[in-house]
Amino acid sequence: MKIIVKDNYKGLSRFAAECIQKQVQYNPGSVLGLATGSTPLGLYERLVQDYKVGGTDYSKVSTINLDEYVGLSKTHPQSYHMFMKENLFSLVNIASRNTYIPDGKAKHLEEECKRYDRIINTIGPPDLLILGIGENGHIGFNEPGSSFEGQTHIVELKESTRRANARLFSSIEEVPKQAITMGIKSILYSKKILLLASGEKKKEAIGQLLTGKIDEQFPASALHLHPNVTVVVDELAYNRQISEAITY
Ligand code: GLP
Repeated sequence: MKIIVKDNYKGLSRFAAECIQKQVQYNPGSVLGLATGSTPLGLYERLVQDYKVGGTDYSKVSTINLDEYVGLSKTHPQSYHMFMKENLFSLVNIASRNTYIPDGKAKHLEEECKRYDRIINTIGPPDLLILGIGENGHIGFNEPGSSFEGQTHIVELKESTRRANARLFSSIEEVPKQAITMGIKSILYSKKILLLASGEKKKEAIGQLLTGKIDEQFPASALHLHPNVTVVVDELAYNRQISEAITY
C-alpha cells in the first residue's frame, strides 16, 4: 500500500483527477469504479473542468458504482444515481448505457445483487476504482464485520453511518436503513484502487488503516490484501506521529 499526503483537499482532488485522466488516456475503453460521498466531489469537479476545455474523452468509458440506498428511486435527490448524474454523468460525454449503479428500488433485491455481480464480472473488473472511507472504516457500504469474501449484498446501515450521511437529508429519519453495496471481494477484484480521505474526521480511520492490521471489524483493512492500492490523504486526515511510527 502506497500513501501519498497532499497539502489540502484541492491537491488531493487534483491528484485523483489526474490518475483518472491518465487511465482513460492510456486506455479509452477503461472501466472506472466510482464512489459517492463528499470526498470525490472535488475530483469530479476537476474532471468536468478538464472535459469542458477539450480534455479527456469518456465516450468509450464504462463506470461501475459501488453502492446505492435501498428504497430510493433513481430520481430521488439523495440517491446515488442522482448524485452521479448531477456531479459527473450529465457533465461529460459518458454514455448513460455504459454507467452501472445498483437499483435500490428493485422489487427483488437478492436478484438485483446477483444481476450486479454479473455486471461486475462481465464489464469489470474496474481498471481503476475510487474509494472513500467511512469514519468507522467502511468502504462502499461494507460496514464493520462484513466478510472479506462478500460480493454484492444488502447491508443494514450502522446508526453512525446514517448519522454521518444525515447531513444530506432533511432529517435522520429519512436516511434509509439499508443499502445495496459491492462486496469487499468485488472491490478487491479491481486492478488498481485509489482510496481518498480528507479532513480531521477521517484521521482516526486512516491511522487505523495504516497500522496494517487486517481485521473484518475494520473493512478498509482488506485493502492490505490487494497488490495495487494507493491511499491519498490531505494533511488534516494524516496523523504524522502515528503513521511515521509504523513500519510495514
Ligand atoms: C458513504 C458511501 C461511501 C463513502 C462514505 C464516506 O457511506 N457509501 O462510499 O466513502 O460515505 O463519505 P464522505 O466522502 O462523504 O465522507
